[in-house]
Amino acid sequence: MRKIILLGYMGCGKSTIAKSLSKIIRVPVIDLDTYIEEKASLSINAIFEQYGEIKFRKMEHEAFVELLNAPGDAIIGLGGGTPCYANNHLLLNGENVLSIYLRASIDTLHNRLVANKSKRPLLASKSDAEMKEFIAVHLFERSYYYNQAQYAIVVDEKTIDQTVLDILAILT
Ligand code: S3P
Repeated sequence: MRKIILLGYMGCGKSTIAKSLSKIIRVPVIDLDTYIEEKASLSINAIFEQYGEIKFRKMEHEAFVELLNAPGDAIIGLGGGTPCYANNHLLLNGENVLSIYLRASIDTLHNRLVANKSKRPLLASKSDAEMKEFIAVHLFERSYYYNQAQYAIVVDEKTIDQTVLDILAILT
């Protein structure tokens, strides 16, 4: 059994790229946020609101371990913060794991996230200008964890298909 893990900052394209890769290599895809939402019967926003971020990080760790230990091959798209809490970064180099960091620049992330912040509790209340500064600092803080992945792919100015091709090159 092999688990292909896609990680990176919010807005880097983890979910979309994971789905597209899944169709090509015919390996099931699981989005960690969706898995947590289904388990809790609550949206990520509602989990943050009702239980707070610390509880979310616990749920996230448990869900990640469950998915890693589940039988069979899978592509797992992590949440943007997953590698940065509960020593989850150590799991990026576990047995039967292939981890890929989808690296995007601050500008790419900012452009994508201004249009897409409502479902992201860490960004929802920020103005567009505040978001740029937030992303810059946050990405810097998180880079150490993201760089624990076995591979990194730059996604700036690439289509989904181009990024999927980059991943296929790693897999073969
Ligand atoms: C988070 C990213 C989100 C989600 C939660 C926290 C983060 O996932 O897990 O809102 O800490 O970066 P996406 O990266 O899929 O938006």
